[in-house]
Amino acid sequence: MGLFFSVKYGNENSIFPGRAAGSQRRQGICGILMQEDMEMSDRLANIRQEILDGIKERANSRAEAFELRKQFLDSKTGKIGQLMKEMKSIAPEERAGFGKSVNELKEWAQQRFMELDEKMKERELQRRYESERIDVTMPARNVETGNLHPVTQIRNQLMDIFVGMGFEVAQTREIENDYYNFEALNIPKDHPARDMQDTFYLSPEFLLATQTSAAQIHTMEKKKPPIKIVAAPGKVFRSDDDATHSPMFHQMEGLVVDRKITLCDLKGMLELFVKKIFGEDTTTRLRPSYFPFTEPSVEVDVSCFSCGGKGCKLCKGTGWIELLGAGIVNKKVPENCGIDSEQYSGLAFGIGLDRTAMLKYGINNVKLLFESDLRVLRQIDDN
Ligand code: DAH
Repeated sequence: MGLFFSVKYGNENSIFPGRAAGSQRRQGICGILMQEDMEMSDRLANIRQEILDGIKERANSRAEAFELRKQFLDSKTGKIGQLMKEMKSIAPEERAGFGKSVNELKEWAQQRFMELDEKMKERELQRRYESERIDVTMPARNVETGNLHPVTQIRNQLMDIFVGMGFEVAQTREIENDYYNFEALNIPKDHPARDMQDTFYLSPEFLLATQTSAAQIHTMEKKKPPIKIVAAPGKVFRSDDDATHSPMFHQMEGLVVDRKITLCDLKGMLELFVKKIFGEDTTTRLRPSYFPFTEPSVEVDVSCFSCGGKGCKLCKGTGWIELLGAGIVNKKVPENCGIDSEQYSGLAFGIGLDRTAMLKYGINNVKLLFESDLRVLRQIDDN
């Protein structure tokens, strides 16, 4: 307990002798009404009591405790802060005693408010514990997991199969220039094969890739034989639009370049792949075809996995379904990339991923793959 003054304002013994005269001077410096006969010790005791009452009745949270603290301890507006300011007007001989008492009160108040803050902190933590309590016996909420898009599922399946056969995975690009998309693949400017892939030009030189075959060139420029790659993700674009064609679709390109590669390698490899995708009973047949970058070129059909080759709606009664284009790499293509075509030969193939997905999952309109209708996409979960 501090040393309190027993003197009164306004009488002869006052520590504020000059104040007794004018009633205005009785007003505290910062607006505290100083009652003439209020003893200094009473004032301090009152503040002390006000603090205790406030702590008891008005501090239910840290924020409230903080506000309360401000009322007393704020250096400008707090009641104790204001007492400090009165120092100036106190007779010099009384100053030390007054200062000591106010300081003691201040320290006492700081201590109380520190304890109060600790208490409030603890209480708020308890409240949080209560409100955030977890009932571990409650049944877990079901998290709905989606599935991969059918085209992605097919791409993953194909990549697994080919990687299993020792293929590396190369990247395809969505934008190519005329050289990679056509020229280097033996499709010069005036070649009619360009018409079949009528496309979207970004400038006279750049275009949206019409086929993944450009990956052959990028690969052979960077890597020398033996080469064994499949290229993904395979997004390509053409100005086509009907039930079986979409302006954007997906392919997977395959390329093998090594010594003595023949059509037998191609057939053996594709046979293995179709059995894994469409079932063990599926077989393949090669039909002559034409692509400028392969010579000879073939169209690969698979035996209809729906009717087993007897003839049905899916295979239009023929027993066979056209699946992909392939061939032995035309010598001009590796030569364009600085590979000696006397020493090395290659095979290449391009698989339509959307087409494979449609066949495998019985989807009759390619648009269904790109409309993002979850009722359709949810049905296909094959991974
Ligand atoms: N690029 C061809 C197309 O989009 C598909 C193709 C055919 C790719 C034969 C090949 C191939 O690698 O050898 O129609």
